[in-house]
Formats: sequence, structure tokens, C-alpha cells
Amino acid sequence: MTISLNSPLDMHLHLRDQEMLKVVAPLSAEIFAGAVIMPNLVPPITTIEVLESYRDRIVESIGDSKFAPWMTLFFKSDYDREFLESAKEHIKAIKLYPAGITTNSEGGVSGIDPKSLAQTLGAMSDLGIPLLVHGESNGFVMDREKEFGAVYAQLAEAFPDLKIVMEHITTKESAKLLERYENLYATITLHHLLITLDDVAGGMLQPHLFCKPIAKRPEDREALLRLALEAHPKVMFGSDSAPHPQSAKESYGCAAGVFTAPIALQALTGLFEAHNALDHIQAFVSDNAQSIYGVKPPQKIVTLEKKPFEVPDNYGEVVPMFAADVLEWSIQSID
Ligand code: DOR
Ligand code: ZN
Repeated sequence: MTISLNSPLDMHLHLRDQEMLKVVAPLSAEIFAGAVIMPNLVPPITTIEVLESYRDRIVESIGDSKFAPWMTLFFKSDYDREFLESAKEHIKAIKLYPAGITTNSEGGVSGIDPKSLAQTLGAMSDLGIPLLVHGESNGFVMDREKEFGAVYAQLAEAFPDLKIVMEHITTKESAKLLERYENLYATITLHHLLITLDDVAGGMLQPHLFCKPIAKRPEDREALLRLALEAHPKVMFGSDSAPHPQSAKESYGCAAGVFTAPIALQALTGLFEAHNALDHIQAFVSDNAQSIYGVKPPQKIVTLEKKPFEVPDNYGEVVPMFAADVLEWSIQSID
């Protein structure tokens, strides 16, 4: 049994820089046709010069793979219109992080309210630049995304023409928000479709499943699964694959992030098959994203077959999700 995916896309990806970039970028570039690249480097990407030199390093590290790295800037409330006009041709979106909420987000925004962000958001809306949001408050960890819902509502109402992507949603409340506001969209990760907090901390602590936003309750996972399996037209796959060295994960003060890029298509295919939803996987991993972002990725046919795939223990210094496990689907060919 095989299934072919046409130009699979990862609409939320962390590629890092330097040695880590060289290890992880080729893994994504081999099996995906394009990805939205997150800007939370140290320091974050806030100028076109820095963004273009980062893109050059990405392109250099992926060799001749057919892969579109779609770049993003790190949100700042004082970007002016002229800057954004010139930035527009270099980027696909701008990513907003609440200050300090996750890895390398110290330079993010404190106290998000539409008025104080109006200069940048107004110009983005006029120019048609989508806003990507890490939507968490600084409240109790299990409630952070739910609490952030009020901010999503304010932003969606204040800027009705701005496309806002709720990144890596993890709750049933976020799933409902999609229906309430026309200009809200969402990415969903592989891990949030598969795990709940129980898998992270219900038994022995699993550092490789620790991420932000933290995995939530079974009913939240169910709500995300419904959206993904029906390939709701406002949702798209974004892995949030976030590599950290093994030493930073298996340590006192575990870094947040799950590394899924090289195993995501195999695991997603198994998940969609288990739910008799294989006819929707193409929309979830590519077509919806193409319509939402208005992008045309390079042609790449990835064929998966139902044949055991032994997930490596590690890719360089990074331990993937399902390390040393066997998945039911493997990649047969890439054309
Ligand atoms: O778990 C996470 N890791 N969540 C994020 O939002 C950022 C990411 C990272 O960059 O490591
Ligand atoms: Zn992320």
C-alpha cells in the first residue's frame, strides 16, 4: 500500500543556525517542498540584511533539494510602513512572540494590545502580510493558550483584513475561535495530535516531548484531531519541529521543543490511516496552506509505503520524537 503526497509543506519550522542548521535543514528539505522558517534566532531576525544572509545559509545547507524556505521577521511594534513595504518581497509573514514565553523570545512583546501594536499591524494589514502568533498568556501553564483567546479576539476584530495564524494550537477553545473570526487560521503540530500532558509528565518525565505550548487534555487533542482529519480549510500542518541538543533536553532545566521534521510525514500518514482519513492528508499537509498563504511550492512527489520505518536514535546531537521506535509507514521515493 502506498500514498503519494504532492509538495508537502511545513508551515512552522525551526531551523536554527550554524552546525545545527547544517544537520536539520537537509532533513526537512529532502521530504518537504517548502516551510515557513521561524525567526527566533539569537538575536532574533529583525532586519532584511540579517534575514537574507540567514536565507543564504539555509540555501547553502540544503544543497540542490527542491525546497522553498519562506522567511519571517520577528515582530516589533515599531516597524514603520516604509520598512515593511520593502520587507514584503523578502518575507511571507511576521511572527509575534509574547516576551519570554518560549525559547529565544525575550525580545518579544510585553502586554499585547491592538492599540500599542497598531503601527506595525495596520501596515501589515494594508500590505497583506500575515501575522503569526505564539498565543500564550503568562498565566498558569495549562491555561495560557485559553487565556490568550481574548487577545486573538481583540486582534481579529481590530484588524479584520489582517490574516492571523494561531500557531501550534493546543486547545478546544482555539479550535472554536477559528469558526468565530473569519481572519483567524491555525497551524497544528504532529505532536499535539498525538500526545497529552499525560505522555509528557504522567509517568517518568519525557523531556523529548516537552514543548511550548505544553500538550493539554484528551478533549483538547480530540478537538485538534477533528480539525486535522477533516482537513478543515483554515488549518494547515506546521510541525513546530524545534531541535535542541540532547544535552539541553536531558538536563536540569529542559529546553522546550519536540524534534519531528524527519519523521512527521511517516507518523502523520499512520495517524490519518488509523482514522480512515487518508483522503484528507493532502489538504492538511499542503493544499490548505497553499490557499491560505497564496504560495506555489516547487513540485515534489513524496511517496510513502506501508513498510516499517525504524526511527534513528538521533540525528547528530538531536533526539527525534519516536527515537528508536518503529513507525508503520516509511518514505519510498521522492521525485
Ligand atoms: O517548544 C517550543 N520550542 N515552542 C516554541 O514556541 C519555540 C520552540 C523553540 O524554538 O525551541
Ligand atoms: Zn515554534
